[in-house]
Amino acid sequence: MTLEYAWRRVTDEAARLSPIHLRQLFADNANRFDDLSVTLDDLTIDFSKEKLDADALKVLVDLARVTEVEVKRDAIFRGEAWNLTEQRPVLHMALRGGAVAPGSDDVLGILDRFLVFAEKVRLDNQFEDIINIGIGGSDLGPAMVTRALRPDHDGPRVHFVSNVDGAHLTDTLKGLDPARTLIIVASKTFTTLETMTNAYSARAWLDRYAESNMAAVSTNIQACANFGIPEDRVFGFWDWVGGRYSLWSAIGLPIALAVGAVKFRELLAGAKAMDDHFRTAPPAENLPILLALVGIWRRNAMGCQTVALIPYDQRLERFPAYVQQLDMESNGKSIGRTGDFISLSTSPVVWGEPGTNAQHSFFQLLHQGTDIIPVDFILAAKPREEQGDHHLHLVSNCLAQAQALAFGKTEDEASAQMKAESWSEVDAKRLARHRSFPGDRPSTTIMYHQLDAFALGRLIALFEHKIFVQGIIWDLNSFDQWGVELGKQLARELFPIIAGCTTADGLDVSSAGLVARLQQLAE
Ligand code: F6P
Repeated sequence: MTLEYAWRRVTDEAARLSPIHLRQLFADNANRFDDLSVTLDDLTIDFSKEKLDADALKVLVDLARVTEVEVKRDAIFRGEAWNLTEQRPVLHMALRGGAVAPGSDDVLGILDRFLVFAEKVRLDNQFEDIINIGIGGSDLGPAMVTRALRPDHDGPRVHFVSNVDGAHLTDTLKGLDPARTLIIVASKTFTTLETMTNAYSARAWLDRYAESNMAAVSTNIQACANFGIPEDRVFGFWDWVGGRYSLWSAIGLPIALAVGAVKFRELLAGAKAMDDHFRTAPPAENLPILLALVGIWRRNAMGCQTVALIPYDQRLERFPAYVQQLDMESNGKSIGRTGDFISLSTSPVVWGEPGTNAQHSFFQLLHQGTDIIPVDFILAAKPREEQGDHHLHLVSNCLAQAQALAFGKTEDEASAQMKAESWSEVDAKRLARHRSFPGDRPSTTIMYHQLDAFALGRLIALFEHKIFVQGIIWDLNSFDQWGVELGKQLARELFPIIAGCTTADGLDVSSAGLVARLQQLAE
């Protein structure tokens, strides 16, 4: 089957299914849940509220075959230099034992070293507070996981500073004691402007404790030494670990400090379970591949531009921000691996907030707005701790939102309901349309037993591999991020102008006007 034909079949299926309301798809097939949900141990993904059926899914699985998803997956796990533009393999899976990396002994050695260090810090009681200074992948992953595993915290308090806005560091340092604070500088390159600016300011704040109270995580060991961090508190990793895929490396040190080595290893084990599943399960039963294919369906067949990621779990509050970087920095590209322009739409805009809060802010638009925005719901069957009937409410709301999106409420139903509630005929006629819901809006529900370290590791790896599969299908390199460079270069050039050291000569008139106004306002 040619690639063109595989894509044509996908668009033909979309044309067939587009006019059929989800209500009808459910009416036509009483086994929709069984046919369109997949399970790995306690993890279930329900695709039955997506606008597809078993035939469409089969066509999507064929697309995965034609784009050689399995062949390319195997190549990446073998350590081929998949990241072409940087000539590197992509082997973050090796950090959790899901693949073999060059110098595997080193991988285990550094894992042991930073976990021993974390346990020592936890036992010593010297440090009450830990501050992780990093940004992007050196912040979002560890910050998200540390928050998600709050019930397991039994170590020092862990804070995260990422923004170069001085307010972030100032607010975090407030009330902390330099003698009892450990600062970790986390940066793959050890050159990132935000991180280094924060690191220098934090070092000044530590004052006479600077030498004893700093640690670093980086691939640039020499730069850590130059900064003055003693060798025994520098933890390395490797260029085959992408920044946004690095929480499994020593970048995860703040997680280990918060929850301990045992839980950190459980996190790794969860991710490895997903690696093993991804490597071995046939595409039609493979959770990351199916999740990717449904994303392709939404984006390329149904034309959806954004996706809302809504964890019904307060502790996953940073998960949408984490996946935002993972997805949009990996697949937000328009140049393919071959160097040609990509003719397909690539990464959607990923955004979201935890439910039920999201219901009271932007769900209005999801239900009645003019755009179709697919939703990924994430839900644990069991809370980490019982708190009255809170969890029952949480679950009811999550399932209710998916129902409302899929099935909606017709104008007739709204009118009938109003009359049953004793509204007058006239008012019911006038207001029913406002109270109706079109439905036919797709969602996927991802559900598991409980949000513990293992389940979280597995969930993160699910999204990592989903994004990788989509990158293969769009034929782009998911592991570089050249799109962030121009802004960094221009900021470096603007800095002396903003600081008043050079004139704004040659600047575009908009920027020059803003600089002039800024300098006026700052006086
Ligand atoms: O600017 C983007 C980026 O390069 C991300 O990919 C990365 O996660 C982040 O900056 C931080 O980089 P580093 O860990 O080298 O400081």
